Amino acid sequence: MNTNLAQYLPSDNGTIDDILFTAIASDIRAKGFSIQPMALPDAVLTPVVSHNQAMLQSQFSQAGIGRSLDFQQNNFVRRDEISWITGESEAGQIWLNWTAKLQTFLNRRLFLGLFSFESHFAHYPPGAFYKRHYDAFQGQANRILSIVVYLNPHWPLDAGGELVLYQDDQDVEGIKVTPALGTIVTFLSEEFPHEVLPAQRDRYSIAGWFRLNTSINNQIDPSR
Ligand code: OGA
Ligand code: MN
Repeated sequence: MNTNLAQYLPSDNGTIDDILFTAIASDIRAKGFSIQPMALPDAVLTPVVSHNQAMLQSQFSQAGIGRSLDFQQNNFVRRDEISWITGESEAGQIWLNWTAKLQTFLNRRLFLGLFSFESHFAHYPPGAFYKRHYDAFQGQANRILSIVVYLNPHWPLDAGGELVLYQDDQDVEGIKVTPALGTIVTFLSEEFPHEVLPAQRDRYSIAGWFRLNTSINNQIDPSR
């Protein structure tokens, strides 16, 4: 048997990652965003989903925006609950290893200069939403690339909870993405306003941001 064939078998995760990373990179180069339905490799998805399901409700806390907004205003903008991924759990490590590989790949392909990565689990209880927003503000050169992956098996098409990705401030239609298991969305953080529509059921995801070196300009990191 020709042992060289082994490198093309589906069990070779390096090959799977390469095909996926190549698709993401060429989408980002062409249009600034990429939607990859049900694409997160099983080797990452399975541990991450079971970790998410095992997480106690107490590990989630209500998400904040910036440092100074008061609770009421905050509550009007977003209602999700989040838990930052630090790599303490095995699933967290697997996720961070995979996003580190993606970061290296994108830096080589697109010269994005991505330097660090931060991410959290997010839980949107029924009725929760995140109003139209940008993940980064132009000129701050802070968050460069956003990534979201969805952790919801069997998400019904009529359950709401779509991510709506808008081309620019004028766009009112947007592109709707169903938060189905394993779907990966990446987009340039400064370019695309987006929102999360309310859902009829619990909605789980990971949201993450690749950043430039945050110590430049003596800027303080955004609050967590
Ligand atoms: C965010 C965000 C989108 C989503 O956390 O900033 O926009 O689909 N999330 O969960
Ligand atoms: Mn966002």
